[in-house]
Amino acid sequence: MLSRAGGGLKVILVTSCIPEEGKTTVSTNLAAAFAQDNKRVIIVEADMRRPRLAQVFEVPNELGLSNVLTGTATYDEATIRGVRVPTLDIMPAGPHPPNASELIGSAAFGELIELLRSTYDFVFIDSPPALLVTDPVLIYTKVDAAIWVSRVGVVTRSQLGRAKNMIERNRLPVIGFVVNRMRPRLAGYSYGYEYEYYGSYYGEKDSNGE
Ligand SMILES: Nc1ncnc2c1ncn2[C@@H]1O[C@H](COP(=O)(O)OP(=O)(O)O)[C@@H](O)[C@H]1O
Ligand SMILES: [Mg+2]
Repeated sequence: MLSRAGGGLKVILVTSCIPEEGKTTVSTNLAAAFAQDNKRVIIVEADMRRPRLAQVFEVPNELGLSNVLTGTATYDEATIRGVRVPTLDIMPAGPHPPNASELIGSAAFGELIELLRSTYDFVFIDSPPALLVTDPVLIYTKVDAAIWVSRVGVVTRSQLGRAKNMIERNRLPVIGFVVNRMRPRLAGYSYGYEYEYYGSYYGEKDSNGE
């Protein structure tokens, strides 16, 4: 991702099939990593039904995206600057609006993304769950790339099949899949295997006398 980021990927959607898979967690960690590299970064929490971003950064969710989209706050007022990292800003979801899908589909949302595109090096959009509501599709056309998060043991094969159809039908440019909350032992890997792998690697080097 970092190597392709130089090629103009700027607005990045972080999405998943259902709630609680780790979209906010992954958005936060990726955005913080980019900001620590001195990039100007913002996370916009577009999941207005289950806001959690403000809580992660221990700031209030009083003003946010829902205010900007309904015209009750400006981008400046709804943005919290320098959270943990000086170049990292966030726009929390804000108060729960009754018409979240409508707001995401509005011209105001498109305009906001264009404003952010010209202001930041990277814009992470923390999306609503793809399979439960209709608004994520409305975001797809506005982003340069997407990262699909899946929580192991919770999301089902059939939900992932539906996700695949959505990705293909909308030509969503997914640049990475995050397999979240994997427990290595359950997935058939073990620390022993890893240890053996590295052990033999170093063993080979030793036999070359290096
Ligand atoms: N890799 C992980 N390991 C442990 N807990 C995690 C991990 N990813 C997410 N969580 C926890 O799972 C819950 C849901 O994550 P969140 O990022 O809010 O999901 P979403 O935004 O998709 O609804 C949170 O309590 C979060 O701290
Ligand atoms: Mg979330």
